[in-house]
Amino acid sequence: LSAAAAGRSTLIAGNWKMHKLAVEARSYVAELRALLEGSMQPPNEQVQVVICPPFTALHAAAEAAHGSRISIFAQNMHQEPEGAFTGEVSAAMLLEAGASGVLLGHSERRAHFGESDRALALKIPAAFSAGLRPVLCVGESEEQRSAGETERTLRHQVGEALAQVSADQLAEVVIAYEPLWAIGTGNVAEADQIQEAGSFIRALLAARSPAAAERAHVLYGGSVSERNAAEIVQLEDVDGLLVGGASLQPARFAAIVAAAG
Ligand code: 13P
Repeated sequence: LSAAAAGRSTLIAGNWKMHKLAVEARSYVAELRALLEGSMQPPNEQVQVVICPPFTALHAAAEAAHGSRISIFAQNMHQEPEGAFTGEVSAAMLLEAGASGVLLGHSERRAHFGESDRALALKIPAAFSAGLRPVLCVGESEEQRSAGETERTLRHQVGEALAQVSADQLAEVVIAYEPLWAIGTGNVAEADQIQEAGSFIRALLAARSPAAAERAHVLYGGSVSERNAAEIVQLEDVDGLLVGGASLQPARFAAIVAAAG
């Protein structure tokens, strides 16, 4: 079933990566709020808006977003509640800063910081127990796609990371499909490639729980812009977008939110 037919909301998330100071986050959120609240159309309640600032700007962004339709998610988290883990941040710390969800397993963390499927298998349940909504990021490299290993890669990433998640929680999972070759390249995936991967990911969830698969959100990320957002978000197995570069300016991100509604 399509998102609307299955009653799934649309989730538009902006991943700022390592951009913006707290002071910039505050003015960005104020501007985005004004754009969303000032638009001529009444807000589409079915479209959820999420911003993922760096740790140091979470609190400022959350304060500025208070009472609006904008939710604040973090970009990473450690799986343990506390301990000798220098430089890491726990779920409770994110909640205290005002986050209500967290990106986990972004390809940049996998490629540059040793993020592993084994750690993700602990991080996802830890996020759930703390009351944070996890967004698991998955996606194949260009080499894996040309070797015909896209499905094998996705099956492995989804299977490992969600192994310990109950069927109930599975329905609350957000999976962001971000093919590595489309991230930051301007080379957005073709609509049929996105739909194929989205439907494959949903089938993986359905093998665990058909009911959960109908409720879980599958997002697309990789060179999303205000020009291609509307086409991608209407695909049957796409329930939203994870936007990098184009989320850094409030006007561009607001245009993407509008395209999704
Ligand atoms: P771009 O939108 O800049 O390609 O980044 C996508 C991404 O990695 C979002 O998490």
